[in-house]
Amino acid sequence: MQDLIDGKSKQNKNRLNLREFNKNESFEILRNKWHEVPAGNDRVTTKHLLDLPDKALLDLYLKNRIDATTGEFFSVRGWYHVLYKDIFRGKRVMDVGSGFGIDGITFAQHGARMTFVDIVESNLEILKRLCGLLDIENVDFCYMESIDSLSPLSKDYDVIWCQGSLINAPFDIIREEAQELLEHLPVGGRWIELAYPKARWEREGKMPFEQWGERTDGGAPWMEWYDLDKVKAMLSPAQFDVVLYSNFFNDDFNWFDLLRRS
Ligand SMILES: C[S@@+](CC[C@H](N)C(=O)[O-])C[C@H]1O[C@@H](n2cnc3c(N)ncnc32)[C@H](O)[C@@H]1O
Repeated sequence: MQDLIDGKSKQNKNRLNLREFNKNESFEILRNKWHEVPAGNDRVTTKHLLDLPDKALLDLYLKNRIDATTGEFFSVRGWYHVLYKDIFRGKRVMDVGSGFGIDGITFAQHGARMTFVDIVESNLEILKRLCGLLDIENVDFCYMESIDSLSPLSKDYDVIWCQGSLINAPFDIIREEAQELLEHLPVGGRWIELAYPKARWEREGKMPFEQWGERTDGGAPWMEWYDLDKVKAMLSPAQFDVVLYSNFFNDDFNWFDLLRRS
């Protein structure tokens, strides 16, 4: 396992000031970090996971999912799997920044029609293999090379699901991506997002966003807090009603479940 784990020094080498880059270069910088997925207390690169035999890959995924959703981590992820897995059955859900598929594969196994979107191709390759191994058929995959890659996707998603994926680049870039995502979410659709609250950023020393990702996510090149006003600004002029908005897990995270009104 140790040889699968990328060292922090390598991540630091990849740290660049995202403010100075245009959006496509920014995605390239983000790719240097986000080929990693959490595995227990460590992070593992999906480039290396591709070399694992089927059984080892599946076992790693299943163990990860149990670890991430049960015991003390029920209050991080388990609660919303319970909440949404039946609600999503038969619904068309876009998982933006699907990572290791802890959420999306779970929802697909409970009958959601998932589209996995990620900026890292090897992350999606892993999910394709896992879906094959688990006999899941109701899934599509979209490699987001740039924001334009989203445009061929269907316009009638019921849910846009962004678990920790739209906090990793400066607001202007994320707003542009969100505006494209909204093209795929009709009125009545749900925008569901996990972010990090301002209270956490304050507690952890109000670091510049270029540095905060080192603390929160082991070397992410950008990490930015969000609150409801900021998410609404990101989504405007589209308007949303609030189904659920709350900080949770000791203010480490916040949850936005929004219903599109216009
Ligand atoms: C913190 S991980 C979260 C993964 C997964 N959603 C989960 O809950 O475990 C962030 C994921 O979002 C992807 N990502 C990062 N920035 C993104 C962006 N701007 N748009 C879409 N995906 C992004 C990364 O490649 C990575 O898979």
